[in-house]
Amino acid sequence: MRHLLNPLDFSVEEIELLLDLASDIEKNPGRYAHVCDGKKIATLFYEPSTRTRLSFEAAMLNLGGSVLGFASADSSSAAKGESVSDTIRVISCFADICAMRHPKEGAPMVASTKSSIPVINAGDGGHQHPTQTLTDLMTIRSLKGRIDNLTVGLCGDLKFGRTVHSLINALVRYTGIRFVLISPPELRVPEYIREDVLDANHVEYRELENLDDAMPELDILYMTRVQKERFFNEEDYIRMKDCYILDKKKMDLAKDDMFVLHPLPRVNEISVEIDDDPRAAYFKQVQYGVYVRMALIMTLLEVEKPC
Ligand code: NCD
Repeated sequence: MRHLLNPLDFSVEEIELLLDLASDIEKNPGRYAHVCDGKKIATLFYEPSTRTRLSFEAAMLNLGGSVLGFASADSSSAAKGESVSDTIRVISCFADICAMRHPKEGAPMVASTKSSIPVINAGDGGHQHPTQTLTDLMTIRSLKGRIDNLTVGLCGDLKFGRTVHSLINALVRYTGIRFVLISPPELRVPEYIREDVLDANHVEYRELENLDDAMPELDILYMTRVQKERFFNEEDYIRMKDCYILDKKKMDLAKDDMFVLHPLPRVNEISVEIDDDPRAAYFKQVQYGVYVRMALIMTLLEVEKPC
């Protein structure tokens, strides 16, 4: 039995196969409408979510399966003091697969050791968010036609943003990826990622504070929200929350075939005035997220691709 806890749990070849399956689902959704008839996914969300939880649920419903779960820790037995290990043993009796989001880093990993069903990490604290990464990879591959030889700008809260950490981990395995890391000094990519991931893989990157300076060279711009819930003090959050606002003037500096991605939710970091720009890909990205999760559920449940 396999879990997805970290984007590196799948090899580059396995990710390629998964994205191929997701693209086939995009083209022929009808063919997949009953491949998971009778199967259930449990969504165990101890932290707020709109997209990720509903995207897992939509994915399972699109495959003919059904869904159960909870959307906040308060409405689960966690509020009574139940451990994640006990909860997953119980859920293993109710469902065939589960997606778990938890504020504590490593909680889905702990759950996987006690689980008799596949566990998908749907975001653990400031650590990883592998299904967002699969979504990001599908978006990049669909829009650019490749996942190599790209200059990728990551902008905003690079310290606490788990989507950024997962995406860097995944992208360093492709050839010719250069990163431009754009953040205030306080929100830089953590040292363990710079040293153990970027430097260790001899990946080219530079860090800067000014988004305008980076715009002309980027093929992908990945914007992120300042992660309010992970700040220790509100003053720091208020000082940094609007450090970047992507607007028309900034988009004028970018290439015509650069795409803007964002895991969402957006707060102020992307002005709504660019939503209609053909390079704004963040709502398309949400749609890709459903296809990728359909492909992932099929893969982890070892469901055959219909002929
Ligand atoms: C992200 C997350 O939860 O890490 N959202 C998502 O899953 N699409 C990004 C964020 O909350 O800023």
